[in-house]
Parts: sequence; structure tokens; C-alpha cells
Amino acid sequence: MSEYPVDMSVVPEVSAHFDAATNTISYIVTDPATRHCAIIDSVMDIDYAAGRITYDHADALIAQVREQGLTLDWIIETHVHADHLSAAPYIQQKLGGKIGVGAKILVIQETFGKIFNEGTEFQRDGSQFDALFSDGDTYQIGEMTCFAMDTPGHTPACMVHVIGNATFTGDTLFMPDGGSARADFPGGDAGQLYDSIQRVLALPDQMRLFMCHDYGPNGRDIQWETSVADEKAHNIHVGGGKTRDEFIAFRTARDAQLTMPKLIIPSLQVNMRAGEVPTDKDGNPMLKVPVNGL
Ligand SMILES: [Fe+2]
Repeated sequence: MSEYPVDMSVVPEVSAHFDAATNTISYIVTDPATRHCAIIDSVMDIDYAAGRITYDHADALIAQVREQGLTLDWIIETHVHADHLSAAPYIQQKLGGKIGVGAKILVIQETFGKIFNEGTEFQRDGSQFDALFSDGDTYQIGEMTCFAMDTPGHTPACMVHVIGNATFTGDTLFMPDGGSARADFPGGDAGQLYDSIQRVLALPDQMRLFMCHDYGPNGRDIQWETSVADEKAHNIHVGGGKTRDEFIAFRTARDAQLTMPKLIIPSLQVNMRAGEVPTDKDGNPMLKVPVNGL
């Protein structure tokens, strides 16, 4: 991992916020020295049946940042989520900070721009975001130097973010008993996902890993923190020396049985716009359903 500026001596404060509606964990990551922070993978609440959007989850994050007197430097999306809507613009409006995502968002915007038959007003150049990260790019949270790793497979634009001794895996990995995320969305690739996971597992053994999702398999309580050593030894999909071919065979068979996430239709339309809800020709917030398009 010599090309990545890993520094295990940097120990950020990590505060986890679990969203029970989507099994997503959002994080506030704080530099203890400067009280600057980042929010990773925020959630906007939606009652899709009613077409109603609310902000309870985001308001809790905002309240904590304010109560603790933190300065928000970054609002990070580990990828374009298919199972929840991002609250990035709402948080930015209240607290400032720059919205960052992987540079391969352009691939996502091209793919889903077509599927949702977006017009020319939908820019496919990532300009909805303030920063587009490429592999190894660094950025600052206060005095902490952070970096992003390209980890395609679940989606083409997935990135894992490393902040001192804390790594935010997005959907690249789940807890050891949860395994890995599906790789069958447009642009997904099980072999790429295996390779990406191996690069995460090449980080130091003591690296803290923070998951974006947990579903409490086999009835256990929700958890979100593990370590590289633990994943290497125990991950049910990639741990204990499972080979790339074994993983691809397993992942492909499993994915063929999965149904689409409940919120994939609204999530993609909003998240490929950095969390902005699209509007119709009169400027009203409006979502589409492409029939037999996914
Ligand atoms: Fe995801």
C-alpha cells in the first residue's frame, strides 16, 4: 500500500448514526485537534409510497455538529447509493462543506441518464458535486490528511475513504458475518469487487473499518465497526483465503436471486444529482419510474 499515505497515528473521533429505515450508517468523523469534521453517507428520509421527503436523520447529524461546535469541511458520498437518498445538499445548506464523490460518477450519470431518459439539462460531467476524487487523491479534515481509494465492483464509482486509522468502506465490505455487497447493478462486476476488497484488506491489520450498511444477520444486534484483521480472518465471502473464482461464482449465483432495493428508483435519480431532487419542466420536484428500464 506504499502508494497510499496511510498514517495509523492519526485517530479521528467517529460518531455513527444508524438509519433503521434503510439500514444505513452515517458517520461524523472529527479531527480532535481542530474540531473540523466530515459527514459520510448521510440519509434523506423518504416515504416513497406518499412521495414525501423529510429530514429527521439529517437534522440529527446537523444538531450534533452544532452542539459540538464542529466545522464541517466535507460531505462525502462513498458511492451513488441505490438503497437510500443522500441528504448532502440539505446538510450543505445548513452547515457548509464541500460535497465529494468518486470521479467515475460520470459513468453512473451516463448510464442512468439514459435509463431515466434525462434531457440535456442533466449534466453528465459531475458538476453537481464540489469535488471528484480519483484513486489516491488526498484531502484535509482540519489537520488530518485523508485519501480515497478506487474500489469499483458494487458500482463503478465506489470509493473507500481512509482517515487516519479509520476506513469507511461504503458497500465494498460488510461486517464479517454479512460478507459483501451485490455486484449486479449496471456497471457492477464481481471480479472487480473481489480485487477492490483485497486492496482494502491490504491496509494495516489494526485499521478500524466502518461499514455503510448492516442488516444484523441471524438476528444479531446491528454493528458497524470491525478491523482489517477481523475481515481477513472471518469474512464469510472473502475471508480465510477464498479465491477470486470462488467469490465470483458465489456472488453471481447469489445476485441472481436478489430483488431490487425498494428505493432504487428514487435513490438513483437523486443521488446521481448529488442529492438534489429532479424537477419537471415547471420546476416542481418530481421523480420518474422507467417501466422495465432497470
Ligand atoms: Fe450501495
